[in-house]
Amino acid sequence: MTHVSSLYLHVPFCKHLCNYCDFYKKQYDPASNQLEDFHQFLNQSWDAHENLLKDHGMKWSPLESIYLGGGTPSLWGEAGAKFMQSWLQDKLSLAQDCEFTMEVDPGTWKPEMIQSWRNIGLNRISIGTQSLDPVFLKIMDRVHSLEETHELLIYCQKEQLNFSLDFLLGIPFSKEKNRDIKNELDQLLQYGPKHISLYILNARSKYPFIDALPDDEYIREEYLFVSEYLQSKGFKHYEVSNFALPGFESRHNIKYWRGESVTALGPTGTGLLNISKKSGVRYKWKVSRAEFETENLGPDEIKLEHIYLSLRTSHGWKPDSLTPQLEGIFEKWVERELGFFEKGTMRLKPSGFVILDSLMDELFKEKLA
Ligand SMILES: C[S@@+](CC[C@H](N)C(=O)[O-])C[C@H]1O[C@@H](n2cnc3c(N)ncnc32)[C@H](O)[C@@H]1O
Ligand code: SF4
Repeated sequence: MTHVSSLYLHVPFCKHLCNYCDFYKKQYDPASNQLEDFHQFLNQSWDAHENLLKDHGMKWSPLESIYLGGGTPSLWGEAGAKFMQSWLQDKLSLAQDCEFTMEVDPGTWKPEMIQSWRNIGLNRISIGTQSLDPVFLKIMDRVHSLEETHELLIYCQKEQLNFSLDFLLGIPFSKEKNRDIKNELDQLLQYGPKHISLYILNARSKYPFIDALPDDEYIREEYLFVSEYLQSKGFKHYEVSNFALPGFESRHNIKYWRGESVTALGPTGTGLLNISKKSGVRYKWKVSRAEFETENLGPDEIKLEHIYLSLRTSHGWKPDSLTPQLEGIFEKWVERELGFFEKGTMRLKPSGFVILDSLMDELFKEKLA
């Protein structure tokens, strides 16, 4: 019997639907039955999920990580804490040092709400900061104010609550309006974050400011600047989009990058059951019914995913065998100053992280991986 000890739970509603965001969510309407429907969805999912685990010889062990993502988990509020408490009594348990994270939108929190979750084990929040400049918050269609962000940061600092910040690059008009990234980071660093997630805006063709996005070179420079600056402040750039002070890496996400089993619940929540080194099952919850679709992963899929996920992290990728062609590609990456190749392991530098997708294309075009 194999054990699973990590859970992602997708909370599918938001106060406002930001125009750049592709995550699955619906407009939150407190007057509707949304919360009851969500609870029903989760309760109905539970049995199907138990059967899935059983079918693959898997069983829960106390959770080492739980991640409430969205959408906007902070909107689930005290009702959510009550719901989760009943699950923690009946269905799940937390390991003693479980990393329990909730994504919080600065416009949808109250101290009592966070306290109700802390009472049942929450010990980390991930704040959707995006930018500390009101001009760029507005451009990003965020409806919370900068004051609300600062209030939340002051609360975390006062309460000694571990928190991570989301910070966006590639914001439209950044060049024209002289976005001062260093100033924004300095403001954030004052609050003593231990973890920062750095995202480059990913825009679809229908995005209203599609023609005002900065060019690739500008974004590359922003990314490399942030990486260097945060490293100078003691952060480790430990994954393409993530920085942490030593010991504060996201334990939940590390499990994904290592290809370990991470279960998921909630509409569009996607889980992975790692059955063996050569096989796995990915499942994704539907949005309308508490049912999921599965995808069986064979040795080739597992290997490709392992390469991609390993190269994303500062640990890098150590191929089982190093063919002359693969060695040739690695040498070129080193010459282009995109990474290091030492003791059979290829580790990318930030200059490689920022073009990871094109490096993966180089590998797969040559069928080297
Ligand atoms: C689920 S949201 C965080 C919680 C909350 N909903 C909020 O926005 O404050 C997760 C993060 O994804 C990032 N994100 C959303 N859409 C994105 C996009 N199109 N490109 C890059 N990052 C995106 C945002 O930085 C956001 O903070
Ligand atoms: S609040 Fe967060 S999840 Fe909701 S639309 Fe905005 S970025 Fe997306």
